[in-house]
Amino acid sequence: MTTYPSSSDLLRRWDAQQTAYIRHRDQRFTVMVEAIARQCGRAPRVLDLACGPGSLSAALLAHLPEARIVAVDKDPVLLAIAREIFAGQDTVSVLEADLDQLDWLSGIDGVFDAVVSSTALHWLAPQHLAQLYFALADRIVEGGLFLNADHLLYDDIAQPALRGLARQDDEANQERAFGSGTDTWDQWWDAAQSRLDFAAAAKQREAVWLGKIPPAKVTLGYHLETLRSAGFRQTGTIWQYLDDYVVCAVR
Ligand SMILES: C[S@@+](CC[C@H](N)C(=O)[O-])C[C@H]1O[C@@H](n2cnc3c(N)ncnc32)[C@H](O)[C@@H]1O
Repeated sequence: MTTYPSSSDLLRRWDAQQTAYIRHRDQRFTVMVEAIARQCGRAPRVLDLACGPGSLSAALLAHLPEARIVAVDKDPVLLAIAREIFAGQDTVSVLEADLDQLDWLSGIDGVFDAVVSSTALHWLAPQHLAQLYFALADRIVEGGLFLNADHLLYDDIAQPALRGLARQDDEANQERAFGSGTDTWDQWWDAAQSRLDFAAAAKQREAVWLGKIPPAKVTLGYHLETLRSAGFRQTGTIWQYLDDYVVCAVR
């Protein structure tokens, strides 16, 4: 009998796969959830942008079980997994949203104590990112946090040696992980799409991503200046490993 991976297996394998591409991914999550606990208290309302199968929301709940979370993404398969992961938890809502647009935000009531994102906002073109930051500024309480963990690549022209160090570190991390049996991105997707009950979501996924080309990456400076222009009073970084950062802005 063929056995298909459960959503919790897929989440565990997703975390391992993502950690192969992002060394110290768990440290980023720890820094983010501890910052939220310290600045926003034990029962914050949090928006998780581009949540994927729910890793960061799960890390938040493990640290802050009283948190109320709205987790959004546009990928139908990842949303299906996240919905199974948080099924029965009425403090977590998993919603479909395309961050290139803003209409989804008006469908969510109220304000947030913190807005978080991990390894995702590099998918947004600069004008969409700016639009999102300005909209979020109206939806975060005074003193609340925006936290974004992402690879913000060193510049090939201005910082070639730094870029080389980061690239070599990435390659070594991936070699170690894949050599010890961790899924690559493609292997993980093969496992997820082996789930027959995800067939419709997988079909929709093709349409969602059709023709999507990753935009030019923006710099750390762009994130900080745009957040400041949008109305965040303090902006900076609270964690860095090579070109991987946690950007933090205080409303
Ligand atoms: C590498 S995954 C990271 C997922 C999760 N945040 C994590 O750290 O495990 C990137 C995520 O960004 C989502 N994404 C990319 N562009 C998006 C957009 N325009 N709107 C919503 N989600 C988007 C993808 O669907 C995917 O879930």
